Amino acid sequence: VAEVKVDLGNDSYSILIEPGSIASLGLSLKERGFNGKVLIISDHNVGALYGDLVVRTLEKAGFCAEIYCVQPGEDTKSLEIANLLYTKAIALGLDRKSLIVALGGGVVGDLAGFIAATYLRGVPFVQVPTSLLAQVDSSVGGKVAVNHELGKNLIGAFYQPKLVLIDTNMLNSLPERELYTGLAEVIKYGLIADRSFYDYLHSNHRQILDRNAEALTVVIQRSCEIKARVVEQDEHESSLRVILNFGHTIAHAIEAATGYGNYNHGEAVAIGMHGAALISCYCGLCEKQVVDDIRSTIAKFNLPLTVQGCTVDELLGLLQRDKKTVGGKINWVLLNDIGKVTVHNDIPEAVVRKVLTEIS
Ligand SMILES: NC(=O)c1ccc[n+]([C@@H]2O[C@H](COP(=O)([O-])OP(=O)(O)OC[C@H]3O[C@@H](n4cnc5c(N)ncnc54)[C@H](O)[C@@H]3O)[C@@H](O)[C@H]2O)c1
Ligand SMILES: [Zn+2]
Repeated sequence: VAEVKVDLGNDSYSILIEPGSIASLGLSLKERGFNGKVLIISDHNVGALYGDLVVRTLEKAGFCAEIYCVQPGEDTKSLEIANLLYTKAIALGLDRKSLIVALGGGVVGDLAGFIAATYLRGVPFVQVPTSLLAQVDSSVGGKVAVNHELGKNLIGAFYQPKLVLIDTNMLNSLPERELYTGLAEVIKYGLIADRSFYDYLHSNHRQILDRNAEALTVVIQRSCEIKARVVEQDEHESSLRVILNFGHTIAHAIEAATGYGNYNHGEAVAIGMHGAALISCYCGLCEKQVVDDIRSTIAKFNLPLTVQGCTVDELLGLLQRDKKTVGGKINWVLLNDIGKVTVHNDIPEAVVRKVLTEIS
């Protein structure tokens, strides 16, 4: 078993990464002293594939387990659906010691985590992330949220799980495009923190795209470690955690400008990382070689480099309104080199415009 420990004092927990581990989820939880009632929250795609298996492993370990499946998709991360889940939790008689298990991608993880954080002022929460994005990103770090019609993730909390259990075999059923979207975040970790991991991705891209279990374990473990080390130093995003936002400033603008339709999150992040690399280069922060290198890696993982379907002015307008813009200044996460991140809030608009034009 590969294990990543997230050290957050009283809120510390482990991320366990192992092919096939889902079959022993019940035992893992029992060993950790949990018992009683469990509400598993999943979506219909994931629930149809793995729901029975998860209910059975929990029942075998003596838990009283119920599964509730929501519609797949971002629209499900809402207060309306949260309310249905509160009703379900009350009807099942879940108490402060009952567990909530998220079985699914980032949508299910964020929603179930939000329920766990708020129901009875907080009940124990376990993440079983099933998409690559959830395994390397959304299940680590304790951000939970639902969307508001005026913006994404506006209603939420910081709430850490008791355990994250990652079964790499579950990625075998993940649609191809969802695999690529997770890989965009993986490339991001290499770029902001670890040149040798980045080189590993570059030279092992075949095995990774073929979902080789060993390669995926390396990818997931290293990604979780990098995110965990950042979160440990800045749990509530007051400073360092912003580096996880590399590529995301432009990505958020792309997602909003194209109506969250043409590009999924990882695709938008890939374009955004390309843009951030170009800004870094034009501001003299890194060599042109770095940009070329990043372009080739993004392309190797079947991710886009340029955006269609919106104008430069639309993107510029949206950048100004990003929720991470402070006092009208955009906090740009940029690169000095591969693996070396730097943050600047004084990038001239002309440079940003030039780059947006180049990636459109
Ligand atoms: N909390 C955080 O720190 C954080 C970080 C990044 C993203 N997020 C959130 O994560 C969400 C995106 O997560 P996502 O990309 O996992 O999307 P998702 O949860 O919508 O999952 C993508 C699709 O893959 C399907 N799926 C998931 N696992 C599968 C499997 N093993 N086999 C077959 N199908 C499977 C799902 O049913 C869904 O249709 C967004 O809402 C985003 O805001 C949160
Ligand atoms: Zn992201």
